[in-house]
Amino acid sequence: MTALLHASRPEDVAAAAAILRDGGIAALPTETVYGLAGNALDAGVVGAIYAAKGRPSDNPLIVHVASVDDLPRVVREVPATARALADAFWPGPLTMVLPRRDVVPDRVTAGLDTVAVRVPDHEAFRAVLRAAGVPLAAPSANRAGSPSPTTAQHVLHDLDGRIPAVLDGGPCTVGVESTVVDLTSTPPRLLRPGGVSLEQLRAVLGEVDVDPAVAGELAPDQTPGSPGMKYRHYAPAAPVLVVEGDVADAAAWVRAQPERHPAVLCFDEEADAFAGLDVVTYGSATDPASLARGLFDALRTVDRPEVTRVFARCPADDAGLYRAVRNRLLKAAAFRAVRAPGR
Ligand code: TXA
Ligand code: MG
Repeated sequence: MTALLHASRPEDVAAAAAILRDGGIAALPTETVYGLAGNALDAGVVGAIYAAKGRPSDNPLIVHVASVDDLPRVVREVPATARALADAFWPGPLTMVLPRRDVVPDRVTAGLDTVAVRVPDHEAFRAVLRAAGVPLAAPSANRAGSPSPTTAQHVLHDLDGRIPAVLDGGPCTVGVESTVVDLTSTPPRLLRPGGVSLEQLRAVLGEVDVDPAVAGELAPDQTPGSPGMKYRHYAPAAPVLVVEGDVADAAAWVRAQPERHPAVLCFDEEADAFAGLDVVTYGSATDPASLARGLFDALRTVDRPEVTRVFARCPADDAGLYRAVRNRLLKAAAFRAVRAPGR
């Protein structure tokens, strides 16, 4: 059994901090997604995090600190770019990749010479950080391969009995994982889009490259049904297919598919067009923050045994937070997409 603690109770926050101080692990809320936290400077603790998640050990973890002043504990040098980004976006959904110090175990960085660091914007998480007194490694608190958890219930669904405690801080306000930017390359490089947008990064840093793994999103001329090049992530058991094009065309095309039990993941505004099908909405098409908040819960909601395929509607736009939503949904679809033909 995993203890369910409440972030609104100071004694529960203290209990979570005590677990971490004593070399244990616990799931904590952040503004992005729930993290599975443990002492980042203890290789044994970090091993327990990987084991609880079932995470491949070649995927490095993010180290969380309470403020920018703690960066030198884990980072060899703090470049001016990092200071500027911290001023603009910390605490917040931005992770910086910087040269690591040797005190950071290889297990955290998967042997890389860099470490990923962020200051989360969640009072309970930072209270635990201060009380624990050590930097906390925290990957998303899901079983490897599942969507990241945005509620304590998601964490329990994946990890009940595998971790001592989860601190319930309510639903995450951002809902997708942090933006990851590599500051050790010139120009800086966006590795993962998230709550801080590419446009916001460029406003502070000037030129920022986009890693091909991000930019390798759907090309506009991609042929229907082309096989995905990337491995699946964040995905329900049933295959996910993104259906692009006008909503009426998409609804007609989906209805024509010989699928035993299709589910449809769409924008709030589109529910009527798919009426009669197994529909799960994830937010408003015109409000990317709502889509980011709702996406992972919706992916979990469609993950039911009777569902044979998930047809998903994805923002066509890459501006701001839409880029992160597109990236996560396309990853869930293993980058498989079709464009519904016009009727
Ligand atoms: O919002 C978040 O970032 C959440 C919360 C809990 O803070 N954490 C999270 O962690 O999403 P995780 O482990 O699920 O994702 C960490 C990402 C992975 O894509 C990993 O490859 C990348 O950060 N990463 C970590 N260290 C890195 C490094 N040294 N160089 C490049 N990428 C790194
Ligand atoms: Mg993750």
